[in-house]
Amino acid sequence: MSDSSRKKPSDLRSHTWYGRGPFSFLERSRTLQNGYLLEEFNGKPVIGVINTWSDMSTCHRHLRDRAQEVKRGVVQAGGFPVELPAMGVGEVMMQPTSMLYRNFLAMEVEELLRCHPIDAVVLLGGCDKTTPALLMGAFSMDLPLIYVPAGFMLAGYFRGKPVGTSDLWRFGQDLRAGKVPISDVLELEQVQARSVGTCNSMGTASTMTAAAEALGLSLPGASSLPAVDARAGRLAVDAGRRIVELAWNDIRPSTLLTRESFLNAVAVCLALGGSTNAVIHLLAMAGRAGVELTLGDFDQLAREVPILVDVQPAGSLLMESYDHAGGSRALMCRLGNKLHGDAATVTGASLSANVSGAEVWDDKAVRPFEDPVAKEALAVLRGNLCPEGAIIKPSAATEALMVHRGRAVVFDGYEDLVANIESPDRGITPQSVLILRNCGPRGGPGMPECGMIPIPGRLIREGVRDMVRISDARMSGTSFGTCVLHVAPEAYVGGPLALVQGGDWIELDVTKRTLTLDVDDAELGRRRAAWSPPAPRYARGYGSLFAKHVGQASEGCDFDFLASSEVSEPLPFFGH
Ligand code: FES
Repeated sequence: MSDSSRKKPSDLRSHTWYGRGPFSFLERSRTLQNGYLLEEFNGKPVIGVINTWSDMSTCHRHLRDRAQEVKRGVVQAGGFPVELPAMGVGEVMMQPTSMLYRNFLAMEVEELLRCHPIDAVVLLGGCDKTTPALLMGAFSMDLPLIYVPAGFMLAGYFRGKPVGTSDLWRFGQDLRAGKVPISDVLELEQVQARSVGTCNSMGTASTMTAAAEALGLSLPGASSLPAVDARAGRLAVDAGRRIVELAWNDIRPSTLLTRESFLNAVAVCLALGGSTNAVIHLLAMAGRAGVELTLGDFDQLAREVPILVDVQPAGSLLMESYDHAGGSRALMCRLGNKLHGDAATVTGASLSANVSGAEVWDDKAVRPFEDPVAKEALAVLRGNLCPEGAIIKPSAATEALMVHRGRAVVFDGYEDLVANIESPDRGITPQSVLILRNCGPRGGPGMPECGMIPIPGRLIREGVRDMVRISDARMSGTSFGTCVLHVAPEAYVGGPLALVQGGDWIELDVTKRTLTLDVDDAELGRRRAAWSPPAPRYARGYGSLFAKHVGQASEGCDFDFLASSEVSEPLPFFGH
């Protein structure tokens, strides 16, 4: 950028608060109240550091320290950092599901930026929904930004063997089947989450932080570092320095984000064997950025980009192995022309320049194209049971179930599932197709991660490890199984899933990308005429607002009043 297009202090957005001569005395005096000297902030870019630390967001416990590192960099580069706390949206502690609060955090970020004198922002997050939420909100304000991911936790070790978050699901299955004693659980819980940071497998957290880097919104390599790694701290300082330049040069998300950068993010998520949740989040993020992205793009790219990273749950290793093998830069270098290398990034260089020269140090952890972990990370299904689409993760499913015909066993919501999954009256056999409905965006509400429907204990004891399961819910990025997810439209709004009856034949054919309810249209018409939606779960408050305004999974589950790329600045400034 030429010096002539570089901003002057009077061009900064914060100037409206601080630069109105004597009429800014209140804003200036209240900043002085915080112990700052006038020259520390006057005429400098104000850099918001939005921090999702909280005691209930356990993956983010270290973010207060990380924020200090960012602020150090901002000051070094001549900016004025201000830290703004935002909702933590920690995956494990939130009920009924953290997804209910993704849009809440996105709104909070948008409004924090809108109402304060912020010129540019560094976003601190990492645990699953925080990455898309922070970015969605910031896209909607279109201020210069850098995303600083929390980093992942170190591998846990249980009796000499590494354990990741995905191992816990298998452990839970064995526990339900009475195959492991409670003493093992108590021992495992002591060692599994060994350090601060996000899950140590390729769950939604590491998938979405990788997506942010592939979008060009994080510094190179940031998404594949452990939380406790000194390199992560140094990158945070660098991010603080760099954001000041972005503020002066007015490099906004709208100047960086294109369809090509979103296709890069999709390709990276697929090569990682990443979480199915990334589909929903990237659709929503693209919507906020005004970029066209569809389920069809995911399906198309999934046929071209195999899984190269051998990390659980699609693979066998943990995140540390990915880092040791070269991490995100090595992966993107290996992806070569599968990526749009000329996409712009926050460094000022192209994506390909950012990753140029990176080498893969361990072909077992980051595989060559000739020896992938799996050919396809994701498949988008269509059919009369999911007219607007559904997804499955073939790499986490069972090959023998990819083409399957079975009779439906229906659960009318999570409570029905919990109460009756072990009931012999439901007649569940290994060939059954388990259906869970009314767990979608509106019906859940918030699409709880219950799509990995548990297999009845009696079948696990007989050796059954997987069955075809279909729902309008999501599943955790660390889960696995032949689970068809995100069925759209969801049952709660009258999608065909609402019309399935126990005993109906259902056919899944992942090779043909189809999901078919074998019931004729006339009968479905009769069932539809007799159908009525379940009562709303929330009578008031945010849950009620959510259920009224959230969109379907096939469109990213954003709120109808937020899902646009329109950027709105504040109302006229009301001076004092
Ligand atoms: Fe935070 Fe898994 S619980 S990333």
